[in-house]
Amino acid sequence: MNFTFPKDFLFGAACSACQIESGCHEGGKGKDVHEHFYPIYPDKFFGADPNESADFYHKYPEDIQKMKELGLKCFRFSISWSRIYPNGPEEVCQAGLDYYSDMLDKLKEAGIVTFFDLFHCDLPYWVIEKGGILEPAFIDWFSSYAETCFRALGDKVDYWCTVNEPSINIMASYAYGSNAPFLKDMNLAIKACHNMILAHYKCLHIYKSLGLNGKIGAVIHMQPVYSLSMDPKDQAAAERDQAFYTGWWLDPMLKGHYPEILMDYPYLTEKLPEGFAEELKENFIENDYIAINYYSPGFVEYEDNGELDYKIIVNEELPKDGYGFTSYPQGLYDTMLYLKDTYPGKDIIITENGIGIKKWGNYDEELVDDYRVNYMREHLRSLSRAIKAGAPVIGYLHWSIMDTNEIYAGGYNFMFGLNQVRYDTPEKTRIPRKSWYYYQQVIKESTVN
Ligand code: NOJ
Repeated sequence: MNFTFPKDFLFGAACSACQIESGCHEGGKGKDVHEHFYPIYPDKFFGADPNESADFYHKYPEDIQKMKELGLKCFRFSISWSRIYPNGPEEVCQAGLDYYSDMLDKLKEAGIVTFFDLFHCDLPYWVIEKGGILEPAFIDWFSSYAETCFRALGDKVDYWCTVNEPSINIMASYAYGSNAPFLKDMNLAIKACHNMILAHYKCLHIYKSLGLNGKIGAVIHMQPVYSLSMDPKDQAAAERDQAFYTGWWLDPMLKGHYPEILMDYPYLTEKLPEGFAEELKENFIENDYIAINYYSPGFVEYEDNGELDYKIIVNEELPKDGYGFTSYPQGLYDTMLYLKDTYPGKDIIITENGIGIKKWGNYDEELVDDYRVNYMREHLRSLSRAIKAGAPVIGYLHWSIMDTNEIYAGGYNFMFGLNQVRYDTPEKTRIPRKSWYYYQQVIKESTVN
């Protein structure tokens, strides 16, 4: 049986500035949080110096040429805020804008659709010093930065994304203490999430007022949440986790309010600022598209804990990659149909899906990544089925175009790339893996067999 994709389907790949760019001291760049904290806590970064990543800063022209050879239809990347505003909210760095402008021109020349994030985990350090996402002024700092980018680059970007995976990044930074600024306070996290949504709304209002041709939204981490029992309490627990994990972002961004089923939980409502519902309603502006990153499913069961009354459990039966992600291709199908039914009428794009295996230390052997080929095949088959079942999916972007710095989650120890990056060479040579050639064939035929 063949699994086909629509004509014009956006087969693409993704990555982000702070994970492959390097060039940390060039082009007038200011320090982002990782560059600031890495020398202080190298262990939290698995010893990965942010300046030693894949050097996309210098190598993007040849990388884009290779993307063209791959047949890539869409490339997702991010703008490093600290390249545009190195020292504070007042002073714009033209060299930063010129760098991204040239990258976008080269992508356009290669016929590649552009999908660019404004914030992918790499706040400028000055933002942290001034109070971070929690600070009310964050809304202005972020939206002015966005406006600068829209004005300078707006006609070159087809899809703008304000923020990548806020559910992970903000929680990890403010509630779980694993990402900079390493805070552990759910009260602060919920307030920071709210501020992020308001900042997102403001960026969308500005973008729309400029009359540009592209689309705008945000990228949300999505895991379909299942209960392993048929007990109605467990089933309801799964719905709540789904609402907190995904609906907490997609509902305000597509419907203008937080998920209704969570509004009876003081655990959340008491942490939100007074008048939060009116604030969302008054400022609401709808995303143009739904973009989600899908890696793994989640599993929960009911627990009376005075919070959201569930706990996360592990499904031991599913295979896991070295990174800790569970492989469950059916979850991608379920996710697509869930989104189609819950937020009808919006195009859906998968902005990340991929597999991370721990390096085993032999660069030649690591080129033969059958595990990635299998993973892609199964996930793309699921996706093709979902499209045939009516899900309006317009693209699939594989994570990642090349090996990355996984920052707080493993540094340079994991392989996510269609391209291997030879970190042992000064020029960070890229070598296409087996999966690269597999994907080239898939794109060419628009079919997965
Ligand atoms: C999601 C994040 O957006 C990306 O930065 C990360 O590298 C991948 N997941 C893999 O962990």
